[in-house]
Amino acid sequence: MTRTLDEVVAEIKSRLDIVDVVSESVILKKNGNRYWGCCPFHKEKTPSFSVNPAIGIYKCFGCGEGGDALKFIMKTKNMSFMEVIKDLAQKYGIEMPSNMKVDEQAKDKKAQMELACQKAAIFYHDVLINRTSEEISFATEYLEGRSISREVIDRFTLGYAPKAYTTLYDVLKKDFSDEILIKAGLILEGKDGKPPIDRFRGRIIIPIQDENGNYVAFGARALYKDQTPKYLNSSDSLIYNKSKLLYGLYTAKDAIKSEDGVILMEGYFDVISAQAHGVQNVVGVCGTALTPDHIRLLSRYTKSRRLYLSFDTDGAGQKATNRSAGLIREAFQGLGSIKQFDESYIAASDDKYSCEIRVVCPPEGKDPDEFIRTIGADSFKSIVQNAPLLIDFQVNSLLKKKNEYKTPQEKSKYIQEFLPVLVEINNNIIRSEYVKMVAGALKVSEKALETEVIRAKNFGRDTYSAQPFKKNVKKNVSIIEKAQKNLLSVFLVTDSHFSFTRINEMIDNSYFSNETLINVKSTIDKLICTVNNVKELIEQLYTAYVEDAETQQVLTDLTGIAETFTGLSDEDFEVLIEDNIARIKKCRWEEEKEKMRNLYKDADEDDIEALKLQMQLRDKINNRIKSEKIND
Ligand code: CTP
Ligand code: MN
Repeated sequence: MTRTLDEVVAEIKSRLDIVDVVSESVILKKNGNRYWGCCPFHKEKTPSFSVNPAIGIYKCFGCGEGGDALKFIMKTKNMSFMEVIKDLAQKYGIEMPSNMKVDEQAKDKKAQMELACQKAAIFYHDVLINRTSEEISFATEYLEGRSISREVIDRFTLGYAPKAYTTLYDVLKKDFSDEILIKAGLILEGKDGKPPIDRFRGRIIIPIQDENGNYVAFGARALYKDQTPKYLNSSDSLIYNKSKLLYGLYTAKDAIKSEDGVILMEGYFDVISAQAHGVQNVVGVCGTALTPDHIRLLSRYTKSRRLYLSFDTDGAGQKATNRSAGLIREAFQGLGSIKQFDESYIAASDDKYSCEIRVVCPPEGKDPDEFIRTIGADSFKSIVQNAPLLIDFQVNSLLKKKNEYKTPQEKSKYIQEFLPVLVEINNNIIRSEYVKMVAGALKVSEKALETEVIRAKNFGRDTYSAQPFKKNVKKNVSIIEKAQKNLLSVFLVTDSHFSFTRINEMIDNSYFSNETLINVKSTIDKLICTVNNVKELIEQLYTAYVEDAETQQVLTDLTGIAETFTGLSDEDFEVLIEDNIARIKKCRWEEEKEKMRNLYKDADEDDIEALKLQMQLRDKINNRIKSEKIND
């Protein structure tokens, strides 16, 4: 059964969850009935971007941008309405009306690339487990040497790519064009008219799956001496973006949810070892640095945002830890502070932290894979359980170096290095504890250190407040326009006890003079015959004006105003409507009076005309006074 476009759009909307949609690009934090985050449409450090799931809309109080889930996707992905609809229809398996089939070619290309990657993964895996040759035995021994069992090989679809030039190509060329195989990063174009060759040769193959389990890329580890690089990775493609994908997430996501925490590692084999040994909530970055997109991806799975960094313990690993911590801090900026105390401290009431960063640092300088294999998963788990908070990790690693600083100059230099860590602690009690600790270890005056910290804190604040964000709020919205908008907003109040028809009776078309508002009112008139609730009305309105940015902006204003009208008693609700009607009438009256006066002025020369006008004016005033008396 094919549906109409309207039905398809309605079906898609019913499946979209505004919080899920927005969370793909914004880290949100719940506060009351809304979610807050930093606006993706303008630069900001304190969240003024809000999502209201009850009515399915988002709105930024900083830049004024707002809309529903579909509009958000259109804006952030730079897609047209139809593109988004086609895309989502495909995603949800909803058939599009037959006269507008999906842009088959692009879709087809992606699907074929994924299929090619899947076939390649299965092929390499089959080579490793079912074929025999000297090099395959070598690969098997290598994996045995790393304590990778057959079960783990199966679970992660590990494989082997033989040294020969076209093993994979020979198999896949029957089903896929060269173009698809090249785009999927599986083969390399042949030079000088020669046929293509396999990209991965003589390597252990680690297939990479996206969040949904599709095979999209490969990591391939060298096996032989002098074989470089150690890991050969797929390049980014139509189906693979390494700065947005985390290795192991597909198999880790349930555990991340249930444990409400995620362990981040650097290596493929770190993730494999950990998950294989029952530490399931582990993901890895694929040969790249952690990015804000990775953090956003993870924030969708862990509610309390507990992130364990489990990088190598060497110098490079420490740097990665600090760099990643900085990035996480930035990603969560404005939503609260980083958790800086354990429950043994009594938290001050303003300690509403946005994320919790802990650092997993096994002793003995081993990477997680080696540690788990040689010391054991249970020890690893207990290290995770007792992992210090980032702040303690940083304090400890700095304190370890304290003996290197002896002269006043050296101590002062050391303190400069240390200040950012202390400045970040928002809780005064906790900060003073750390100040005491550091001052004691360094044998400097606690008071002097405290002064430095406060100075650094204030300095940061000054530079920050020097750049307030531009308010894009339209000034000089005339009183009458404001009142007209108020009247229309009344339809969009979620908790009013009045039916749409009743509201329509209380409000009259004649109060609208602005063209956009007249249009919106007439669309509302049409829609309220079919919609069941405010949420639907808002959705339908956004859809009706999907190609009309100006009206959409007005809709956003209206929903914003409507929110300020929630929680009113029925009586106040009626008063609100009456007040605004009265205000509009009054403005109109003023306008009319002004017009008459001008006419009167112009008519000065011609006495009879002037007299007529004067009488008209007086009549009007009298009528108005009478009608006001009646209304009172
Ligand atoms: N990496 C990479 N390309 C390289 C080296 C490393 O993409 N040439 C990535 C891989 O994802 C690798 C991670 O960085 O897993 C960590 O590198 P490294 O610590 O050097 O390797 P290990 O993970 O310890 O690898 P192995 O245990 O196989 O030696
Ligand atoms: Mn390793």
